[in-house]
Amino acid sequence: MSLLSIAQARYSCRNYLPRHIEQDKLDYIFSCVRLAPSAVNRQPWHFHIVSSEAMRRKVQSCYDRPWFATAPMYIVATILHDQEWVRADGKRHGDIDIAIATEHLCLAATEQGLATCWVCNFDAERLASLLHLTADEEPAVIIPIGYAADTPREKSRKALAEILCSEQIN
Ligand SMILES: Cc1cc2nc3c(=O)[nH]c(=O)nc-3n(C[C@H](O)[C@H](O)[C@H](O)COP(=O)(O)O)c2cc1C
Repeated sequence: MSLLSIAQARYSCRNYLPRHIEQDKLDYIFSCVRLAPSAVNRQPWHFHIVSSEAMRRKVQSCYDRPWFATAPMYIVATILHDQEWVRADGKRHGDIDIAIATEHLCLAATEQGLATCWVCNFDAERLASLLHLTADEEPAVIIPIGYAADTPREKSRKALAEILCSEQIN
């Protein structure tokens, strides 16, 4: 698959089959995650794999949607704030880093025939507590992952003309 076809095929899946995810696919996906770039190569991230029934229920209690509960596995991507690069003006870069690595995850999963969805609208305080995270580790995104039980919707995106800004130096 070309990168363009993978980007076209990735979509926010909101219904999953109760089907096991093969370990070799997960290994492949995390090999891609590991190669993600990060500011000053700090790699300020952890990826918590949640697949047991008990832990899945706990994660579900942080984002209470019927579709979310169908996922056989969740990957909770966290920012390690004590490892992220901070620019001289104080701007922290962990959010950017975790987004790049997480999208590597989603694209690699798509290539492997799996489906995902970015979920950020969860109860972060509750999730941090359930995962026993330290104060330096912030849950940034939950990725439900599995085999899709729904079909992709047509993509709604701005036209290139709306997002490309040509040089205007006067
Ligand atoms: C940072 C981020 C946070 C998101 N959070 C949620 C969320 O909490 N719940 C949800 O259902 N979708 C969430 N989404 C999915 C977006 O709604 C979705 O990516 C967007 O509508 C485009 O659709 P597509 O992913 O199918 O192309 C999130 C996406 C991103 C990138």
